[in-house]
Amino acid sequence: MIKKCLFPAAGYGTRFLPATKSLPKEMLPIITKPLIHYGVEEAMEAGMRTMAIVTGRGKRALEDYFDISYELEHQIQGSSKEPLLKEIREIQNSCVFTYIRQKEMRGLGDAILKGEPLIGQEPFAVVLADDFCIHDEGDGVLKQMVKIYNKYRCSIVAVMEVPREDTYKYGIVSGDFLDENLLKISDMIEKPKVENAPSNLAIIGRYILTPDIFDIIKSVKPGINGELQITDALRVQAKQGKVLGYRFEGLRFDCGSIEGFVEATNYMYKKM
Ligand code: UTP
Repeated sequence: MIKKCLFPAAGYGTRFLPATKSLPKEMLPIITKPLIHYGVEEAMEAGMRTMAIVTGRGKRALEDYFDISYELEHQIQGSSKEPLLKEIREIQNSCVFTYIRQKEMRGLGDAILKGEPLIGQEPFAVVLADDFCIHDEGDGVLKQMVKIYNKYRCSIVAVMEVPREDTYKYGIVSGDFLDENLLKISDMIEKPKVENAPSNLAIIGRYILTPDIFDIIKSVKPGINGELQITDALRVQAKQGKVLGYRFEGLRFDCGSIEGFVEATNYMYKKM
């Protein structure tokens, strides 16, 4: 059973400056709930109750969000506004939040490695909250992935087809399909040039990782921009035949970009 979900949330979010000068990107709201709130809900739906968040300087709003706000609670108790806090209260009452800081932005691989003391030696999920995933007709993406993990017991990455000209933005995988939506990954490459991309299957911000990944991250060398890439560590696992790619059901919005953020907002507004 997967009990813990790691949220790397230490990045600067420069594409949303100046808003992200003092506001963590993960706190940007889609309508009324911050991005990270949706990520936590997705992890809860998948059965996880420990949320491990990798933060950095200027990210205290994240910790405050998942804590009780006595003054506010007291003020609106019994008023018509009280129901607005119902969902966040449910999260506070049923989950444990743990935090650790990444002091220098040395890449997603490094951020995940920083989470090791919070995770320990057990399989865990990773959610990049700025990848906003939604599945209106059924299980959320993490829940779908947990079902696959329970069968195969190895690392799993969520993948989706992207236009070939966009492959340079993602980790791109190649391998053999075991069935329509499940791929045994044999290789992967981070942000390849279009002509070097082995496919148009891109990794998005949902992972299930086995704990041996921590030692593998420690052994890989920094890649592009001197950053430790999780793709390079997963590549080592893939060479051992231990990584699956899962073409998930549902929608994914890249809320790390302005365009994706606006699309997600419009989508959720129409659903209200
Ligand atoms: P991104 O590269 O999309 O996030 O990292 P960013 O750097 O914050 O955004 P821009 O490009 O400047 O606008 C993907 C995820 O990995 C986390 C980020 O917080 C984000 O959730 N991350 C990335 C870390 O926690 N630490 C890092 O060193 C790098």
